[in-house]
Amino acid sequence: MVKITVIGSSSMDLVVIAQKRPNKGETILGESFKTVPGGKGANQAVAASRLGAEVTMIGRVGDDDFGIEIIKNFSKNNVLTQCVERVTDMESGTAHITLAEGDNSIIVVKGANDMVTAEYIEQKLEVIRESDIVLIQQEIPEETVEFVSETCYGMGIPLLLNPAPARPLSQKVIERATYITPNELEAAVLFGSDDIHAALKQYPNKVFITEGKNGVRYHDGEKEVLIPSYQVEVVDTTGAGDTFNAAFAVALAEGKGFSDSVRFANRAASLSVTKFGAQGGMPTRANVEESL
Ligand code: RIB
Ligand code: NA
Repeated sequence: MVKITVIGSSSMDLVVIAQKRPNKGETILGESFKTVPGGKGANQAVAASRLGAEVTMIGRVGDDDFGIEIIKNFSKNNVLTQCVERVTDMESGTAHITLAEGDNSIIVVKGANDMVTAEYIEQKLEVIRESDIVLIQQEIPEETVEFVSETCYGMGIPLLLNPAPARPLSQKVIERATYITPNELEAAVLFGSDDIHAALKQYPNKVFITEGKNGVRYHDGEKEVLIPSYQVEVVDTTGAGDTFNAAFAVALAEGKGFSDSVRFANRAASLSVTKFGAQGGMPTRANVEESL
């Protein structure tokens, strides 16, 4: 069993399903409302665990009911929670999601995720040191991402940085991370939109651009490759990127090659979008293998 540590956000997703989005100043009637566990960090932890890794989550939740539910959900999915702390007088992170016209739009309120600080991570170095790979995203403070990239680099532990949601990264973080997995929008923020191909070539087997339905693009040291994704009936794309990142980390930690790891992750992500909710549809190991 590979050991994966996920450092990041844990939130409650508050999802409204509606025909359309309201205009500014407008009130409309929606169809339904659901509360489901989410947050990019938590989603990646749950996905990696379902795929058979031993996963430790490093994060923080509030002292509200959502915090209790988030921790329960980790346990239900066999994610180790000794590094998930409840913060007093703080609300848990929430994501306010509208599903309409075939796509989602999301407002994230960080809450306790903003307290996943470098000082907090500093108390968890032993967990990091024992990991086969560490996964991190950007719903936590920028300083934390910098600190973790420096720490993992120093310890020789591979770090997969999923730069979502988009924000610019320092050159140092780009150099320190082992793998970076932006979508097209995030890649444009990191490398400029003019020459994505040059950026891929500059970071062979390191930068993997996820292009949704199109597939995943990277440079293998000799040439640029595009590994196509699997076409499926899409119900909800929320969390597809998280499933991809988790599965990619699991495959890499197990020693699979890059193209096989991307294929495995594409398959996992494609299964995840066939069900509602970020974590609904996240496949087990068997689910992925029987459909590869
Ligand atoms: O990546 C999907 C996640 O992003 C959702 O679960 C939601 O929490 C948002 O933060
Ligand atoms: Na889903």
